[in-house]
Amino acid sequence: MEEDIKTHRVSTSDDIEVSTYLGIARAMQAEQPEPKETAPLSGRETIIILDFGSQYSMLIARRIRECHVYCEVLPFDAPWERIEKLNPKGFILSGGPASVYADGAPLAPTYVFEKHLPVLGICYGMQAIAHQLGGRVSPGEKREYGHAVLHIETDGSDLLAGLPTSMPVWMSHGDEVTELPPGFRALAYTENARYAVIGNGEGVYGLQFHPEVTHTPQGKQLIENFAYRVCGCSGNWTPALFISESVERIRAQVGNGKVVCALSGGVDSAVTATLIHRAIGDNLTCIFINNGLLRREEPERVLNTFDNNLKVKVIYIDATERFLRRLRGAVDPELKRRIIGEEFIRIFEEEASKLGTVDFLAQGTVYPDVIESSSSRENKASARIKSHHNVGGLPEHMSLNLVEPLRYLFKDEVREVGLELGIPEEMIWRQPFPGPGLSIRVIGEVTAERLDILRSADWIVMNEVKKAKLYSQLWQSFAVLTDVRSVGVMGDTRTYGYLIAIRAVSSSDAMTADWARLPYELLDRMSDRIVNEVPHVNRVVYDITSKPPATIEWE
Ligand code: XMP
Repeated sequence: MEEDIKTHRVSTSDDIEVSTYLGIARAMQAEQPEPKETAPLSGRETIIILDFGSQYSMLIARRIRECHVYCEVLPFDAPWERIEKLNPKGFILSGGPASVYADGAPLAPTYVFEKHLPVLGICYGMQAIAHQLGGRVSPGEKREYGHAVLHIETDGSDLLAGLPTSMPVWMSHGDEVTELPPGFRALAYTENARYAVIGNGEGVYGLQFHPEVTHTPQGKQLIENFAYRVCGCSGNWTPALFISESVERIRAQVGNGKVVCALSGGVDSAVTATLIHRAIGDNLTCIFINNGLLRREEPERVLNTFDNNLKVKVIYIDATERFLRRLRGAVDPELKRRIIGEEFIRIFEEEASKLGTVDFLAQGTVYPDVIESSSSRENKASARIKSHHNVGGLPEHMSLNLVEPLRYLFKDEVREVGLELGIPEEMIWRQPFPGPGLSIRVIGEVTAERLDILRSADWIVMNEVKKAKLYSQLWQSFAVLTDVRSVGVMGDTRTYGYLIAIRAVSSSDAMTADWARLPYELLDRMSDRIVNEVPHVNRVVYDITSKPPATIEWE
């Protein structure tokens, strides 16, 4: 049971399953080269976030990107040679759990202060600045977590320009700066922090609160001030610029090589494929495997999008029969997942073998995956192998260098780029859909008949949610075919039919989710239509459990 819970996947990417299968297959082969660091591109301005272990580092990055300024999160001790290539315009030192005066505490590298670039230290980052530049940091008399009111003491600082003289901020610190380093002065205070904002008049600032969280409503303005006024960035990091840079970069990486890309129907693989296609045309081959577990009309829509709209050639394999044959008799959800993973790789391998020599594998890896895997000690690929241990390797003649054009993008940026590339909105805003598809929404054995019932019910749920204009507000909304049958009466006849459950949740990352308070009238319409239009179903229930304790999917 415990093992079951551990292997239950939490994904925020709708393509993650395809990437995972390929990632595993790749790891099963002999050592493969890791993707090369991106080449520096002239003209792009970067703010470097040095990460001291804050839970908010990724959020800081998102806020900077929202200003249309490129940024990267790097380990706090990243070497200057790595940073230099990125055309740095300033540094942000993140928060972190350590105390600067503890033995072995992580400190900012000397280049941070020697290169005369702007620096913004947040919480631990500010304490590091104070400590390293000759001030003093002590354990705070009062720990301060939560709301506080910031009072600005001075005008004329670029960082605080345009902000009100007092404003709510979100504090979270134990230690505090008790003596300023030479050349610094206090720019703002809170009731419990004498030095809530400090600066030296030469572009080095410290904040004792978190501007990146929504609890600091004016934080966005402050971050914008840092990016534009203090660092002098122009805010030219746009989807169009990203596309032209990526095309150049992909051409440089791939040359005349051949690239293969697996499509899943989700946005990450769609954007990856379209970008690569724009760079290298028909040297890209896309493979789309229909596992027979997709929703109604989904394969047709994917093909139509790529063939007609984007003019990308796709090898389409309808492997429904194969998957259903292998799934026969399987009722355990983890077994279903494993079978689907194995079969996917087997088919991908067969198809890739027919292409002759392939040099690159395209993957829709996005930035949160990169940050997570570089900061986590556990090797993700090997952790995944545990739950898919029978997945085979890929053909030997595939040298499998990776092309990962979305490696430095957040999900919302992937969507913006997708729109700019002309991918239809419907695909861009698709709700996440699990790799094992409807197989984990048919409770018990997966058969063609039961899949058909679920597809019809799912279609109605989706249709009604869209008509009610709730589709984009919900994280996911779908039907589940349970293995319960119950008695009903239709006309004068007693029925004994299937029970359909409707699941609709709101969430921001799938780690937690709240059941959606759908209007009664909407639930009523869905229930009415499902029992009337879907044969063999005579009862509908609505799932009112949140995650935790439940999960989003039933299996
Ligand atoms: P749970 O059910 O764990 O789901 O709350 C969290 C998110 O992950 C998706 N999910 C999966 N995605 N392969 C996937 O690619 C899977 O095996 C899988 N299981 C769950 C689920 O749809 C939700 O978005």
